[in-house]
Amino acid sequence: MRFWVVLTYDGENTPPGGIVLAIGIYDSGLGGLSVWRELRRSTKARLLYFGDTSHVPYGEKTQAQLEGYFWEIVGFFLTKGCQAVVVACNTSSALVVPRVAGKVDIPVFGIIERAVDAVLEVSDGRVGVLATRATAESGAYQRAFAEAAPDTKVFVQSAPKLVPLVEAGEINSDLTRQALKEYIDPLLAENIDTLLLGCTHYPFLRESIAELAGPAVRIVDPAPALAVQVGEMFPAWQADQLGKAASCDTQFWVSGDPQTFKTTAELLLKEELPAVGFYHMSGEKV
Ligand code: DGL
Repeated sequence: MRFWVVLTYDGENTPPGGIVLAIGIYDSGLGGLSVWRELRRSTKARLLYFGDTSHVPYGEKTQAQLEGYFWEIVGFFLTKGCQAVVVACNTSSALVVPRVAGKVDIPVFGIIERAVDAVLEVSDGRVGVLATRATAESGAYQRAFAEAAPDTKVFVQSAPKLVPLVEAGEINSDLTRQALKEYIDPLLAENIDTLLLGCTHYPFLRESIAELAGPAVRIVDPAPALAVQVGEMFPAWQADQLGKAASCDTQFWVSGDPQTFKTTAELLLKEELPAVGFYHMSGEKV
């Protein structure tokens, strides 16, 4: 499938026709909100967030399934006038973004390389990566670090219990702390100095993660680095326009239950969101 899109945006604040540039951001569910909250500060674009909650967790899906979801979601974004796509999901960034490169005529931003850059800025050479099963097994982070910094020791820990816990809003429960300990202890045994949150759901567990990892381990959330990269292409409003433009010019859509998403998202973000729309995903377009 190939999409042909005429880009009319010319770098001015409002492109011809008065339609403000829109960027589509997607994830399997709530995780991409950790990217969205950074992005709304770094770009003036209108944002459209899609949580594919009928297919969460992406970490348990196959490459073919994830690629099918990608094309369906990009199709949805194009009908909404989006002119760029941010894959706010490590799993799809690892398994899908490299395969669709050159096949989409609007920019597609993935998170893997930005995460590696962000880690290399602070690490002394021993890196732990917490990730979904699919991301860990894809080898994407292992390869990206080997290419960017071959001397860095990288230990990737798959953490399949975490996404369902975040989706359930369980960010401080005993169950969540137990699961985190199970995943972080083996990384601490490797004497890591930096821990990469290699799934966009994990920044919502950052407090507990930092506590368990201890003060000697730097925690890296790659969302700000990705938001900076997107913002360089689609810059932010001037400071005096920021409050108005960035407050919440976002449409939220999900493929599952909108109310469940809204309630848990508000709990995680500690702010009120506008009404959430429903978009049916067939999940069959591979
Ligand atoms: N938040 C996504 C990621 O960064 C997807 C997690 C999932 O649904 O398993 O990988």
